[in-house]
Amino acid sequence: MRVLVTGGAGYVGSVSVERLVQAGHHVVVLDSLVTGHRGAVSPSARLVHGTLRDRAAVERLLQDEGIEAVLHCAARSLVGQSVAEPALYYAENVAGGIGLLDAMVATGVRRLVFSSTAAAYGVPESVPITEDVPPAPINPYGETKRAFEGAMRCYGEAYGLHGVALRYFNVAGASEKNGEQHRPETHLVPNVLLAALGRASLTVFGTDYPTPDGTCVRDYIHVEDLADAHLSALELTGHCGGGPDKTSDLLGTGAATGSAGAGGLTVCNLGSGSGFTVLEVVRAAEVVVGHAIPHALGPRRAGDPPALVASNARARELLRWTPRRGSLEEMIGSAWAWLRAHPGGYPGEQEASPSGPG
Ligand code: UFG
Repeated sequence: MRVLVTGGAGYVGSVSVERLVQAGHHVVVLDSLVTGHRGAVSPSARLVHGTLRDRAAVERLLQDEGIEAVLHCAARSLVGQSVAEPALYYAENVAGGIGLLDAMVATGVRRLVFSSTAAAYGVPESVPITEDVPPAPINPYGETKRAFEGAMRCYGEAYGLHGVALRYFNVAGASEKNGEQHRPETHLVPNVLLAALGRASLTVFGTDYPTPDGTCVRDYIHVEDLADAHLSALELTGHCGGGPDKTSDLLGTGAATGSAGAGGLTVCNLGSGSGFTVLEVVRAAEVVVGHAIPHALGPRRAGDPPALVASNARARELLRWTPRRGSLEEMIGSAWAWLRAHPGGYPGEQEASPSGPG
């Protein structure tokens, strides 16, 4: 299959590209390289440096490359930044995404897998969270991801687009070639490991949550398991054609059939189904690195829900997917191996370069 991966130079995108290439697909990466890394793109994929907001260029790319399916990972994804600069998030995550949808419709590309987020759920009343829990994002980042899911649903109904939105929980770990390098870094696992190396100080945000040890519970999923799920989701978009969207009907995801009759949206959580507290992550990392990791206990970070754990029953059933690298030690161990093998990060990039997540 000929696949366009937007944001394929970022963390999740680059590992997904590796997986697609390994499965024998022809991959083209479109990335602005604002937060992504040139060195993260598999040499077997073609990297096109560009932006989704240039709709004519995206249309040409889809056509010239004979693209059959799109994996849409490109996005801004820092919650705090989204609160301070919602215009950037609406421009890139929503307007940029709509440009991609329009280009797909214009060129007859009907298969789309989207990197969505657990942030769409906001602060859930209970865990594990199923896909039937109504979205209630509490920040512009989650709002813009939900908005794009809505557009996918409408385009599916009207224009026959087959979409799968994957709501990621907390992605961690690394492949041999690609790992997590965000500047600034806000995520827990890389921050814990940078503290282990003495390159950053670590604060545990909040110790008074209603959880077993007072720190937040999250559902961590290995980035390579996530990449496997993307491959399955891309395959799934090829199976829902010819008549009403059976996938969506089966799952009751609310996708109706419109005049084009064959499209729809399937929403699917991607998590391991288990939750770990922040302090459990720190302790697991101490086992991996073999020494104590200095950390301070601090106040809560604004906007953090106490617990986010996925129900992954739908992903297991529909994508025939099982997380295979589910232990904290495996995830943290692979991130540690990557960090040690790439002490300066991706080649050609300065430590101090200012940017958001890739
Ligand atoms: N944390 C710390 N110290 C740190 C970093 C994080 O204690 O230095 C804590 C956070 O407060 C949180 C947990 O570790 O309780 C995980 O934090 P991350 O920043 O790693 O991840 P989040 O759960 O905040 O974010 C993830 C995704 C977002 C998504 C969000 C949904 O990375 O893209 O889930 O709520 F928006």
